[in-house]
Parts: sequence; structure tokens; C-alpha cells
Amino acid sequence: MDERLFFPATERNSYSIHKVLTKYLPKNGFVLEIASGSGEHAVTFQKLFPGITWQTSDPVIVHRKSISAWIRHKGLEEKMPPPINIDVEQKPWDLSEKIKLNLKFIVCINLLHISSWSCTESLFEESSNQLKKGDSLMLYGPFKINGEHTSSSNQLFDRSLKSKNQKWGVRDLETVHLVAKTNGFEKLEFIEMPANNLSVIFRKI
Ligand SMILES: C[S@@+](CC[C@H](N)C(=O)[O-])C[C@H]1O[C@@H](n2cnc3c(N)ncnc32)[C@H](O)[C@@H]1O
Repeated sequence: MDERLFFPATERNSYSIHKVLTKYLPKNGFVLEIASGSGEHAVTFQKLFPGITWQTSDPVIVHRKSISAWIRHKGLEEKMPPPINIDVEQKPWDLSEKIKLNLKFIVCINLLHISSWSCTESLFEESSNQLKKGDSLMLYGPFKINGEHTSSSNQLFDRSLKSKNQKWGVRDLETVHLVAKTNGFEKLEFIEMPANNLSVIFRKI
């Protein structure tokens, strides 16, 4: 049985995210992906950045099965470890000594708006605990700027998210930046991406 899931947005945004990763990913070491979803990004980026080890994670078992299926499908079993079960809000994250030792970068794509605000806070708290000075955390997704939506489509998206779950919603970049600073991160770059998304890169100081 093919357990691979296909997330349409994931295929669409892979190329533009890859361009940002080219600038910021370390040459080697472990990248921890939070909320890997289907696993399509993970296998794409592992192929494009063979020097690093892409460690996937997701709290949903069906997603972890999809990630494993994608790893097998792409013949990456030797290179990529199996996905781990991380719910950002369950602290501390259960990382092996090997991951802790080699971890250099954390990436989190399209999670902040589809989770409660406490998830954003936990993401920064635990990333700060796990990363070393000089390591980076990259977020990708839609954000408000100075409390305002950057497009009418993001505003509609925000409304539809909130109708599904009151705790979800497009986050305000300045507020996220404040949480980053509180947890010992500095801004590296905020990059406008296609379809009114942003790539947001912070460095642990
Ligand atoms: C919109 S999907 C994004 C998946 C993938 N990053 C992508 O861009 O295709 C959101 C993902 O967040 C995961 N997720 C939801 N709540 C989470 C939490 N508290 N901690 C970690 N992951 C979570 C879901 O299981 C899902 O895979």
C-alpha cells in the first residue's frame, strides 16, 4: 500500500523555499524539520542538499507514515533517519543525543497559523534550548505586518482558519519577532515569497 500523501501547496512552494535554504542552510550537520507533513519537502531538500541530514518530525502518525513512504520511494533510507514524533508543545522535545549533538538548523513550514499561539511560543522556547549560538531557525508561511494582512487572500484565509478553529490564524510578524527576541534570537532576514508568504530567518545569539 502506498502511504504517501500529496500536499498541493508543498509542491508549489518547494522551489522558492529551496532558494532561501541555499543561502542559509549549513553545509553539513542535522536539520530538524518541525511539522514535516507529507514529507515531500523533506525528500526534495535532502536530495538538493546532500551534505546535510534532514531529520523530519510530525505528531500525526499518518503524516509520519507518509514521510517514511516518501523516504523509501526516493531511495533515501540510507541517508535520512525515520521521522520522529514531535508535538512542539510537548516539552522538552525528545531528541536523541546524535540529533542534539549535530543539530545546526531548525525549519518550520506552514505551522504557525494552523496551531494555537502557545505552539509559536513553544517553538521558540524549545528551538532556543536545542540550537547553539549562531544556529538558525527558519519559518515559512503567511504573516500579518504591523497587525495588517498583506493581501485580501490572506485575510480570507485567516477568516477560514478561524472558522475551523478559533485558536488558529495568521500571526503578526512583529509579535513573532518579539517572541524570538525574548527567546534569544535575532532577525537575520524576512523575505517576501510568492503567494503572499514570507520566509523568516532568525539566528540564536
Ligand atoms: C499545513 S501542514 C504543513 C506541513 C508541511 N510543513 C508542508 O508545508 O507541507 C501543518 C502540519 O503541522 C503539524 N502540526 C500540527 N500541530 C502541531 C504541533 N503542535 N507540533 C508539531 N506539528 C504540528 C500537522 O500534523 C501538519 O503536518
